[in-house]
Amino acid sequence: MEMGNIMEQDVERVLFSEEELSRRVGEIAAQIDADYVGREPLLVSVLRGSFVFMADLVRKITLPCTVDFMAVSSYGTGSSSSGQVKIIKDLSEHIEGKDVIVVEDILDSGNTLSYLLEILKARQPASIRLCTLLDKPSRRVKPVELHYSGFSIPDYFVVGYGLDYAERYRNLPYIGVLKPSVYEH
Ligand code: IMP
Ligand code: MG
Repeated sequence: MEMGNIMEQDVERVLFSEEELSRRVGEIAAQIDADYVGREPLLVSVLRGSFVFMADLVRKITLPCTVDFMAVSSYGTGSSSSGQVKIIKDLSEHIEGKDVIVVEDILDSGNTLSYLLEILKARQPASIRLCTLLDKPSRRVKPVELHYSGFSIPDYFVVGYGLDYAERYRNLPYIGVLKPSVYEH
């Protein structure tokens, strides 16, 4: 790995390169294309972490689809879950009768998503599925039904491709494991 910039000094190693991410995102888009033939899914990006994944995913989906955005907070600026979830920004459109796909960056404890899915289901969409780029199954506290998952990973703290630590590193084009020294002091 090139150590060409300041952020990269905080990355222990690259877990998924730009090429690997692009290939896997293409596979997920192809699955969605196949599953939603004849329908027009509404992709709901959970901000902020999923914005990069969302942007790449929608451009690889060939079906007509629409997008909306929602922001929730669950982590503050740290690296471990607080268990508290707050809606910071709600959707702009109604989802009743729509085929909704919730797009997340990472499924960890499941606290955020199980709460969010309950709220969205109460609005009576025609269907609702969850699509996450990364999944850390060993950290799950709340069970969450997952339809599309990019990569299953061990309990590493990862950054890049939208994922942050204290709001930084989202603009790294790959996903890397953050050096523990960055968050241990
Ligand atoms: P959950 O409620 O524990 O499932 O938390 C999910 C959220 O925690 C994600 O949307 C991320 O914002 C954050 N998160 C969990 N693990 C990581 C990680 O390894 N890197 C960056 N953010 C993470
Ligand atoms: Mg997030």
